[in-house]
Amino acid sequence: MPNDQQAPGEVSYDFSGATVVVTGAGRGIGLEIGRAFVGWGATVVLVDRDGAELAEAARAIGAHGVQADVSVTEDVDRAVRSAVERTGRVDVLVNNAGILRDNVVWKLTDQDWDDVLATHSGGTFRLTRAVVPHMRAQGGGRIINVTSYTGLRGNPGQANYSMAKAGIIGFTKTTAKELARFGITVNAISPNAETRMVASIPDDKLAELAATIPMGRFGSPEEMAPAVGFLASRAAGYITGVVLPVDGGISI
Ligand SMILES: NC(=O)c1ccc[n+]([C@@H]2O[C@H](COP(=O)([O-])OP(=O)(O)OC[C@H]3O[C@@H](n4cnc5c(N)ncnc54)[C@H](O)[C@@H]3O)[C@@H](O)[C@H]2O)c1
Repeated sequence: MPNDQQAPGEVSYDFSGATVVVTGAGRGIGLEIGRAFVGWGATVVLVDRDGAELAEAARAIGAHGVQADVSVTEDVDRAVRSAVERTGRVDVLVNNAGILRDNVVWKLTDQDWDDVLATHSGGTFRLTRAVVPHMRAQGGGRIINVTSYTGLRGNPGQANYSMAKAGIIGFTKTTAKELARFGITVNAISPNAETRMVASIPDDKLAELAATIPMGRFGSPEEMAPAVGFLASRAAGYITGVVLPVDGGISI
């Protein structure tokens, strides 16, 4: 069967004994990444600030949910503590939580700017800082960040978001260099999937965007998970500091 027809659920990894923390996992891409890791045998901790959605998501896939805002240090530290207390370890961190506050740059408010940077950049930093001591003590780990083609190409109306997502690429490469000696790899995916975040983009802009996808369609959230599984797997043990687009070619 050609690879492009392989259902994401058919991809198989063995993460039994591993603890995986996924942020922004109450829905969308994060939820599907969490679901995939549960299927691959991991103990999965879903982190989201939306408690109701999180509880339902955790129940539905057989994961643990920790309500936390990734932009708040105390919340992040509590979430990581909760994962470590449960299993004694944290093997994989997926920094996926994100928001949009789109507007052209001359109309962006301080709040639009600060919220987006605090969530994407601040969250990725805080979670990374919190898991590294545990991963070092264990002798290794995997960190997978979620960036965007917007950070690579720019996109009108997303100066705040593209600043944050480009920053995540620099952060990924810097932390990959800092943490390699401890057996910790740091990589990123650049997704493109039909989620509520995409649904919030106005129809005319969405049509414009869809027309730039070489594969002619948005991906599904489920299609993002195998790439994360690969980067977290033993097979990717010698890969660090890369950005893997899973985007139908939109970033080309
Ligand atoms: N959907 C796409 O095409 C696309 C493209 C490029 C990048 N991304 C990135 O992928 C990631 C997931 O996006 P999605 O499309 O699934 O979005 P989504 O809006 O469906 O889900 C995002 C989740 O993050 C949570 N969240 C937001 N702020 C948070 C915070 N401060 N603390 C904890 N949780 C928080 C939300 O409650 C929500 O559950 C984001 O980082 C996004 O920027 C998505």
